[in-house]
This record gives sequence, C-alpha cells and structure tokens, in this order.
Amino acid sequence: MENSVNFKNKQEKCIQEIEELICGYLPREEGLAKNLAAAMNYSMTAGGKRLRPMLMQETFRLFGGEGPVVEPFMAAIEMIHTHSLVHDDLPALDNDEYRRGKKTAHVMFGEDAAILSGDALLNYAYETAFLAFDMGVDAGRIARALQILGDKTGIYGMLGGQALDVANDGKPLTRDMLDYIYANKTSALIEAAMMVGATLAGASEDEVFLIESAAYRIGIAFQIQDDILDVTSTEAELGKPIGSDAKNCKTTYVTLEGLDKAKETVEQLSREAMESLEELPQQNAFLTELIRSLITRRK
Ligand code: IPE
Ligand code: IPE
Ligand code: MG
Ligand code: MG
Ligand code: MG
Repeated sequence: MENSVNFKNKQEKCIQEIEELICGYLPREEGLAKNLAAAMNYSMTAGGKRLRPMLMQETFRLFGGEGPVVEPFMAAIEMIHTHSLVHDDLPALDNDEYRRGKKTAHVMFGEDAAILSGDALLNYAYETAFLAFDMGVDAGRIARALQILGDKTGIYGMLGGQALDVANDGKPLTRDMLDYIYANKTSALIEAAMMVGATLAGASEDEVFLIESAAYRIGIAFQIQDDILDVTSTEAELGKPIGSDAKNCKTTYVTLEGLDKAKETVEQLSREAMESLEELPQQNAFLTELIRSLITRRK
C-alpha cells in the first residue's frame, strides 16, 4: 500500500515536471500565426498521462543517461502523440468531442484549424527535436534517435496503423489484422519513446532491440486496456467519451476475444515486458512500477 502511494506521488511529480518541460518548448502565441499556436498549445496543455515522455526519460535513466539532451525529444514525442489525438478525434476519423477532459480541437477551433494544428504539431516535433544538436552531445546518437522517431511515426508505424484502423470501421477483422493495427497505431510510438531514450543514453544495438520488444508488448497491452476502458469506464474518469469504438462499429480486441481474455492479455504482456527488462544488468524500479501500473490503470 505504502509502495503504491509512493509510486503515485512520484508519478504525479514526474507529470508536473514533464508539463513544465513541455511548456518551455511550445510555440509563442504571437505574430500572424498566433491562432495556429493557440490551437496547438490548447491541445498540448490539456493534460493527459504524459506516458510517452515519461517512458522515454525513465529508459534514458535506465541506461545511465544524463543531461538535457533527452528533453527536446520528450517534448517532441508528446507533440507527435498529441497530433495523433487531434486528428484521431476529427469527424472524418473517430468523431469524438472530448479529450483529456476538455472539448476536442475541432469543436473548439473548427475542423480547418484542428487539421492544421495537428499538422503543425507533427512538424514542430521535429523542429523541437533538432534543438538537441545544440546541446554538445554526439551528433550520431541524435541522428539515430531522429531516424527512430521518423520511422515509428510514419507509414510503417503509427500513421500506417491509424490508416488501416479507420479504413476498417464497420468491418470484421482477423486477429492478424488487428495485431498489425495495434502494433502500428499504438505500439510504434511507445517503441519510439523507449528506443529514443535508450539510444540517447548510449545503449548498444542489442539493448535497443530488447527495449523495442518490451515496448511492443507495453504498447499492445496499452491499446487493449484502452479498448477495455472504452466499455468499462466512465467519461468523467477517462476524460474522453466511452463507447467510441461501438459508435464507430470497430472490431477491437474486446469484441474479438472478450473482456476476460482482454484483461488476461494485458497482464501477461505487461509481465513479459517487465521480465525482459529484468534481463538487463541495471534496473530502474520506477520504470518497472510504471509498466505494472498500466495493467490496472483506470484512465
Ligand atoms: C490515447 O493515448 C491514444 C491511445 C494510443 C490509446 P493516452 O491514453 O496515452 O492519452 P493521454 O495522453 O493520456 O491523453
Ligand atoms: C488511437 O486509438 C490511437 C492513436 C494513434 C491516436 P483510439 O482511437 O482507440 O484512441 P482513443 O481511445 O481515441 O484515445
Ligand atoms: Mg482511433
Ligand atoms: Mg479515438
Ligand atoms: Mg480508444
């Protein structure tokens, strides 16, 4: 009990620190592009669990990373993630009106501004990550981290998964197809977060590979839990509408395998991820607890 209270406190503190860090990298709301900046900042400051920057930072620490080089990348991955949410909520995609307990960008600013602010966040992520080159760290590591970020976000990563997900609304899916969608729409960005953290800290290729496979499992478990919460949570707790998947006639892990198997799979994949991290000579207890906490997360 005391441990879980300690963990929650530490997580809260981490979220606060990450939010302060992110704020330092946001565009200024001035000049002729100020409305675009305001829409970007609205979605970026709306809250959220800040899971991807947290996983990045804790993986960086796991491999002994020090100094600020990870910080622009932490802001960048949250910008990419937020871009994906702004677009995911658009009427043409999931058509949802609440996110992170607030009205979605298209409801607040109109569809045109939401589309452009999502685009601008995706681009600003790279403008932000490039700042790492001014931090006096080995440029090769930064270049490799940028390559991971780009690869995991694009057609063979998050956006490829999102495209297939949306194209299959209302259609039955095989498990293989569903696995492909989850691996890309959700795991890819979680893989990027942890692989970038490891790479910037100087982890070896083998270590980055181990991190990629652990992050893959964390990501699949995360998406299955998201599907579970879509049918078992409340809008007040989740900060976004429940029943979004049913509304869009989506095949999910829950509709395909049932709620019990879904819960078991979340636990099993998370345990496998924690076990593979235990193979490393060094440990980060907070990272392990963070992964464990995702099994029972309620938002
Ligand atoms: C929502 O991600 C999108 C999915 C991949 C399921 P999060 O649940 O991490 O959203 P925030 O950042 O906490 O709002
Ligand atoms: C979205 O999956 C994953 C993204 C890449 C945005 P969902 O559509 O299930 O995410 P939520 O439930 O709207 O957050
Ligand atoms: Mg979606
Ligand atoms: Mg959605
Ligand atoms: Mg969902």
